[in-house]
Amino acid sequence: MIPYKHEPLTDFSIEENRHQYFEALKKVESELGKDYPLIVGGERITTEDKIISYNPANKTEVVGRVSKANKEIAEKAMQVADKTFNTWKKVDPVIRAEILFKAAAIVRRRKFELSAWLTKEAGKPWVQADADVAEGIDFLEYYGRQMLEIAKGKPMEEDPGTINKYVYIPLGVGVVISPWNFPFAIMVGTTVAAMVTGNTVLLKPASATPVIAYKFMEILEEAGMPPGVVNYIPVSGAEVGDYLVDHPRTRFISFTGSRDVGVRINERAAVIHEGQIWIKRVIAEMGGKDAIVVDDAENADLELAAQSIVASAFGFSGQKCSACSRAIIVGDEAYNKVVERVAELVNELVVGDPANPETYVNPVIDAGAFKKITEYIEIGRKEGRLVAGGKYDDSKGYFIHPTVFADVDPNARIMQEEIFGPVLAITKAKDFDEAIEIANNTVYGLTGAVISNNRFHLQKAAEDFHVGNLYFNRGCTGAIVGYQPFGGFNMSGTDSKAGGPDYLLLHMQAKTISETL
Ligand code: NAD
Ligand code: ALA
Repeated sequence: MIPYKHEPLTDFSIEENRHQYFEALKKVESELGKDYPLIVGGERITTEDKIISYNPANKTEVVGRVSKANKEIAEKAMQVADKTFNTWKKVDPVIRAEILFKAAAIVRRRKFELSAWLTKEAGKPWVQADADVAEGIDFLEYYGRQMLEIAKGKPMEEDPGTINKYVYIPLGVGVVISPWNFPFAIMVGTTVAAMVTGNTVLLKPASATPVIAYKFMEILEEAGMPPGVVNYIPVSGAEVGDYLVDHPRTRFISFTGSRDVGVRINERAAVIHEGQIWIKRVIAEMGGKDAIVVDDAENADLELAAQSIVASAFGFSGQKCSACSRAIIVGDEAYNKVVERVAELVNELVVGDPANPETYVNPVIDAGAFKKITEYIEIGRKEGRLVAGGKYDDSKGYFIHPTVFADVDPNARIMQEEIFGPVLAITKAKDFDEAIEIANNTVYGLTGAVISNNRFHLQKAAEDFHVGNLYFNRGCTGAIVGYQPFGGFNMSGTDSKAGGPDYLLLHMQAKTISETL
């Protein structure tokens, strides 16, 4: 087996790659507006009630119309998944892993097309869409290999006169609930981690991005996944989410999304329902209020700081749990220079339709996000000094200019609450210790970065900056599967570390088998 290596990103300065992306966009455009059924036990089910997926850059353009599950269909899917678990759990882990490797090969072949779907359905600019698909491939390749290792079991201490075995077995039916912001990578990673470990899955994709999840279901089927192992049931989270979470046959829930929904799921999952014979396991990866700390002018590369802040704050319009939404800068000199340079760089960013390769700042996902983010911009005008952006327009799509507020108090709302859009708040700290205190001063703890060449300051951050993913002298987004396992502390979640060596074990339970000779 070739060792795991992460999927390279596409170089769009190469003409052939640009050509292929344009061709893929044409193909996707010719397929917009189609109907998609639910998939339960391999059977296609069409309902009258639909989830309609729109292009965020052109809000009247329908990307697809997806049949919507109700409680009856969710119940049927649960029964199918529960029954299929009895056979799937006995399938050799090697065969389960091979389905992932085959799926990775299919995704790789269809990379441009899948990326183009992300451009249309999630509003992802080319580079962001390509990275999302590459991360999906990484999850398939990495988790497949991890499963092969886990299947070997763990050696026990020598105990003369006995044979002791320690093996991992699957849990049961998992409800996988994924977000729209990494509609391919996170949906793929959470789904295949659950299935490769021998569980069966009810996949509930985000309502804004159900079409790309349907495309992945087709890929799993082509790769040899038996019917009923992953069941595709787009539902409204609010309507049927509770039903799935509460169901006595749900064994675990793998959720990625906002803090409020994650906390609600965690609470509900703790309640034992009639007929339930286990404590449900919850993997919940939630929001962030991530900060980049810039050391003083003597200790930090200020150009690197400004570049890192802008890329981390405005890539995919800040709609990443890992996005930099706070910059904390030590001392007057560094503060003034970085604020000025950030504003300059932000003013150069191209805002527009992500189908255009020059676009850096895409529209936000939908009307709800547009309303929430623009309300925060108005709050920001009162809480800080506007140094860039502040404009927005939803006449065609949900466009918001990248917006920067300086001189913001660390306790201001825009410093504390997850905005999940292209809004950055900047504050000044008197010294490095205070900067770390400010960085830790939220309920979250997902990602963070420090720009400094002072080894003692980096060591202090390593010990005291309380985030699941900490980066030095780079931005705070872009964790790579297998290299930077991803997950956060406090209200950012259960720190499951997606793309890491412990992740699959969260979907399994260990069994000891001991025989006296
Ligand atoms: P969201 O919480 O609104 O929705 C996430 C998923 O939960 C969707 O599929 C949604 O339909 C579903 N849902 C909603 N209500 C539900 C309910 N009552 N029961 C069951 N499911 C329900 O989040 P979102 O807007 O899709 O994504 C953005 C959020 O996700 C941000 O807060 C972001 O920080 C977070 N996020 C976290 C990570 C991470 O790894 N920590 C990664 C990506 C996104
Ligand atoms: N894993 C994604 C990142 O690191 C969210 O940016």
